[in-house]
Amino acid sequence: MRTLITNGIIVGAEGSTAADVLIEDETIAAIGSDLESTGLTADQSIDAAGRYLIPGGIDVHTHMELPFGGTFAKDTFETGTRAAAFGGTTTVVDFAVQSRGKSLREGLDAWHAKAEGNAVADYGFHMIMSDVNDDTLAEMDQLVAEGIPDFKLFTAYPGVFYSDDGAIFRAMQRTAKNGGLIMMHAENGMAIDVVAADQVAAGHTDPYYHGVARYPIFEGEATNRVIRLAEAAGVPVYIVHLSARDALEAVRAARDRGSMTFAETCPQYLFLSLDDMGNGFEGAKFVCSPPLRTADHQDELWRGLVKDDLQLVSTDHCPFDFHGQKELGKGDFRKIPNGLPGVEDRVDLLHDGGVVGGRISKERWVEIISTAPAKLFGMYPQKGAIAVGSDADIVVYDPSAKRTISAATHHMDVDYSCYEGRTVQGRSDIVLSRGAVIVRDGEFTGRRGYGRFIKRSIADHARLA
Ligand code: URP
Ligand code: ZN
Ligand code: ZN
Repeated sequence: MRTLITNGIIVGAEGSTAADVLIEDETIAAIGSDLESTGLTADQSIDAAGRYLIPGGIDVHTHMELPFGGTFAKDTFETGTRAAAFGGTTTVVDFAVQSRGKSLREGLDAWHAKAEGNAVADYGFHMIMSDVNDDTLAEMDQLVAEGIPDFKLFTAYPGVFYSDDGAIFRAMQRTAKNGGLIMMHAENGMAIDVVAADQVAAGHTDPYYHGVARYPIFEGEATNRVIRLAEAAGVPVYIVHLSARDALEAVRAARDRGSMTFAETCPQYLFLSLDDMGNGFEGAKFVCSPPLRTADHQDELWRGLVKDDLQLVSTDHCPFDFHGQKELGKGDFRKIPNGLPGVEDRVDLLHDGGVVGGRISKERWVEIISTAPAKLFGMYPQKGAIAVGSDADIVVYDPSAKRTISAATHHMDVDYSCYEGRTVQGRSDIVLSRGAVIVRDGEFTGRRGYGRFIKRSIADHARLA
């Protein structure tokens, strides 16, 4: 099967150029100007006049069906990857979970079973480690060999995912040897629990106080601590869902001294604020950890993206219905399941707020939504580039089209949108995953089970920093 895409402008992290793209089966076979004039034939052609061709978006932080707070994140690999595809994201890397007392293998097998035969686009896994002991440490090496080279640990959520500094350091030492990457949820969970209990005792039980209790300084302290531990272990560390200027300062200082430190932020920290958590229990729609910050943190995060102290934007997609799930925390914000939906909106929000908003170039936009994630997470140049030999994950993107975000029209399996009523400029018109058109003009044309597990390589790019 040969597909020719003509008249588009290829936008890549390194620059933009007008060129045609020929796809042969699943792979990009040729790039050049006016390929038809060379006598080349194709089975189908796509006219991309007036539109960009960008590498499919890569979201390296999703939680399909994550167990949390007595319930499960709602999107499955089928609904979640389909929603991602509508929004121009063709690869997700989801977090498999090791449950306390079980092996990493059991957690990984469970995640393979959730995804295989269900995902409509490609996926990989990171591993959440809940117990660090001799057995799980040994298992880490095997996972790296199987294409799951990163491990997430938490200084937050005592009693659930929390690990103490000794456990974190042991996992770091092991990862320094096996070539993997440590991902850290960095908030001081012990201190947060003290403040949260104080707030509830004072009668402050609304969702807003979830945001109040999780001080920015608690994120800054934990971020600095885990970076220092990683430096001592000689391992690259990646700070997930960075939200606060205090944490960014720790990352910036580390990078300035040459440390192998990397970080992501998420759209919710760039576009939403603590104010969204007011309005009584409605604020539960915005409960995630770290929490939304006061709006004055946002400019600092954008600056971090411009200066590459933040390398990319992922979503931390973890959707819970407002009705029936977020409501579990009525009367006590500590019982609200943590997480927001977002996998469908990332590419457009970043285009609208970043490129149209004049904060970043369109090339940097492509870098932070696709190329940098592919590089840092061992998928480049198979993913993250429009280049001969790469997977034909290509989005025909209309930079002028406008759409209004709404739960009534989104494809995520969740009953609200954090961006309800927001109009964004930029839209994915045609989405190809390994050469197959899976979304065209608002219609899903792919199939359940088409998505393939991506065995990722070790984090070379992280180690070369
Ligand atoms: O609130 C969040 N972020 N929920 C998902 C779990 C996590 O910490 O990433
Ligand atoms: Zn987290
Ligand atoms: Zn997360």
